[in-house]
Amino acid sequence: MVKILIKNAHICDPATGMDCKGDIFLADGIIADIGSRLEYETEVTIDAAGLIAAPGLVDMHVHLRDPGQTEKEDIISGCKAAAAGGVTSVLAMPNTSPTTDNTETVRYILDKAKDADAHVYVSAAITKGLQSDMLCDLQALKEAGAVALSDDGRPVVDTAFMAQAMQTAPQLGMTVVSHCEDLYLAKGGIIHDGAAAKKLGVKGIPAAAEDCGTAREIALAAAYHVPIHICHVSTATSVALIRDAKRRGVAVTAETAPHYFALTEEAVLTRDADYRMNPPLRTEADRRAIIGGLKDGTLDAIATDHAPHTPRDKANFETAPNGVIGMETSLAAGITFLVKQGHCTLAQLIEKMSAKPAQLLGIPTGSLKKGSPADVILFDENEEWTVDVERLHGKSKNCVFKNKKLIGKVKFTVCGGKIVFNQLD
Ligand code: DOR
Ligand code: ZN
Repeated sequence: MVKILIKNAHICDPATGMDCKGDIFLADGIIADIGSRLEYETEVTIDAAGLIAAPGLVDMHVHLRDPGQTEKEDIISGCKAAAAGGVTSVLAMPNTSPTTDNTETVRYILDKAKDADAHVYVSAAITKGLQSDMLCDLQALKEAGAVALSDDGRPVVDTAFMAQAMQTAPQLGMTVVSHCEDLYLAKGGIIHDGAAAKKLGVKGIPAAAEDCGTAREIALAAAYHVPIHICHVSTATSVALIRDAKRRGVAVTAETAPHYFALTEEAVLTRDADYRMNPPLRTEADRRAIIGGLKDGTLDAIATDHAPHTPRDKANFETAPNGVIGMETSLAAGITFLVKQGHCTLAQLIEKMSAKPAQLLGIPTGSLKKGSPADVILFDENEEWTVDVERLHGKSKNCVFKNKKLIGKVKFTVCGGKIVFNQLD
């Protein structure tokens, strides 16, 4: 592993509160030193003047499609996309094929990830085949290496199973992350149940479908005094429910995704399935509420819900599967739509994309503190670029920011001491 000395960067590390010029020395896979005017013998010395140095991002909601749907993405390609976006740790969701509901599949993912350009953590399924009729062997999944539990892609329909998983997970040191959706209310819907659905004459997914799920998980967390993490929050009501629960001392945490603070249902009026995901893009009032939730800490983290689908899958607006990719644009979307709009500081954005998710998953990264893993990124917070899907590093192109101008460009990514992305000129 090469020794790397990064000099003259603006270091932004929310975990330690550091926000000043300095140098970072990486050796043996860890942050060996951090300070000013560092001098070391190294193979690689970088003059990072004008760039921000931050902890590698932690994306706690990623669909790597491996095993089973590797024409959309695989562990290696997904982690290349991660590296290009400054993401050094991902939580892989279990709606693979076969489902990540057994120890062999957990081990397969972790084994293949050894050669990947990001640290891969596994969320195993809560119920067999995500079917909600048999609980998985949660302890065995933990022993195989899973750190989280979720039926993401679907909710756990049987509330008793969800209650059981939420009560068992803390004893195993696992995080339960919940995709909140009432399938009966959502049935047949393809976009938000609002003005766009009316205009296009298609069935909508009401905000209430998500909110019923959010309310149920909060009720369970409150009743059993156990934590729950709510995934990809998209509605104003869910933000309000989470805010209220936090005030009452319920151990609820939550994430949202860049598309929910950047876009609204208007984006689907072109009938382009690349703007369809679940939960769907909502109204301007919802978008503003998401930003409010990020600002006051109701929403703890930003994750992408990176959900690759091929252009062929996405060809038909009405029948295409839900999902959008996101890891190569998440930092830039945060800078463009939050920091540059004055909604938060760069440090606050970085915290929601690194230290917070690392803490929620209990994984040892998300900080530039001496001794931490050498997961470090360099980016230009002011560079404007236009998203060209042909130049992205993952296998799929279903990006909501395609052809859009974004501000903030990742230049250099080190994961576990290995240079996994380098666009320094
Ligand atoms: O948009 C989505 N895509 N939502 C999900 O819940 C699943 C995901 C996928 O796997 O494609
Ligand atoms: Zn989901």
